[in-house]
Amino acid sequence: MFPTDRPRRLRATPGLRRLVAETDVRPRHLVLPVFVAEGLDAPRPISSMPGVVQHTRDSLRKAAAEAAAAGLGGIMLFGVPARHDAVGSGGTDPEGVLNVALRDVRAEVGDALPVMADTCLDEFTDHGHCGVLDDEGRVDNDATLPIYGQMAVAQADAGAHVVAPSGMMDGQVGVIRSALDEAGHRDTAILAYSAKYASAFYGPFREAVDSQLQGDRRTYQQDPANAREAGREAALDLDEGADMVMVKPAMAYLDVLRRVADSSDVPVAAYQVSGEYAMISAAVERGWLDRERTIVETLTGIRRAGADIVLTYWATEATAWLDR
Ligand code: PBG
Repeated sequence: MFPTDRPRRLRATPGLRRLVAETDVRPRHLVLPVFVAEGLDAPRPISSMPGVVQHTRDSLRKAAAEAAAAGLGGIMLFGVPARHDAVGSGGTDPEGVLNVALRDVRAEVGDALPVMADTCLDEFTDHGHCGVLDDEGRVDNDATLPIYGQMAVAQADAGAHVVAPSGMMDGQVGVIRSALDEAGHRDTAILAYSAKYASAFYGPFREAVDSQLQGDRRTYQQDPANAREAGREAALDLDEGADMVMVKPAMAYLDVLRRVADSSDVPVAAYQVSGEYAMISAAVERGWLDRERTIVETLTGIRRAGADIVLTYWATEATAWLDR
């Protein structure tokens, strides 16, 4: 009798499929990235990310409360300042938009929801780069590091449970760890963007943060051609004290995610970035993809590839479609 092997037996009913599912996505696995802008009267829609807004202080508090009620794993804050300068002063200023918002969100959610902060200068600089520039206009790695240290301390002072350096400067995790420790923030965790690629999929994010960037970030973010290098970046970050590591973007880098997950003994995050959100949203708008199924499938695939944690702009909404 042929066939002797019948894998279809275990797919026959929803109950059997649930019984043998290897991967699941729960609300606790998801982290919601949010934008908060200085001096807004009302939330401002981001046209390339339908459904995502630049928050006011008030609307952000509400979004944070909803994220906590939905049982999310965390919330990641990005600031959009009213003014930019060469060294990104708004990032280190305790009254800067991001630090003010961190205090608001901590007051709202306490310890019920881990509060995370993007530790990077690009939102705050007038040239839009993730670090300060030298006389020749190149991003100056070592001059940037102490500013990251100050920024992380300001974020921890404001109540961040986790700081997330995303600027891809060499040595950033080590400098941030020492700065936090010296300031008495030994328990503030570091989620390191270890493998962050110079990706076209960040396009809509540039609108989301009113980015000032001319040119690109290829002298500090990784070349999409390289996977081995991601292992090296993650190993360096772990050596320097990272508590968690991240791969970004997610969908075009699932092999990198698997590689980093296999070689790291800390929790691994993946970031489903703005362009992934925009791409699926556009196809859904045209009636070409089923929204809920497509989103859940991508989140499942990212988890299956090795992510313990997934950052996604759909986080709060998606909890309605997941098993609790
Ligand atoms: C840098 C940063 C970026 C994103 C997160 N952190 C932009 C960049 O590197 O150009 C992109 C996130 C997204 O596209 O959703 N602070």
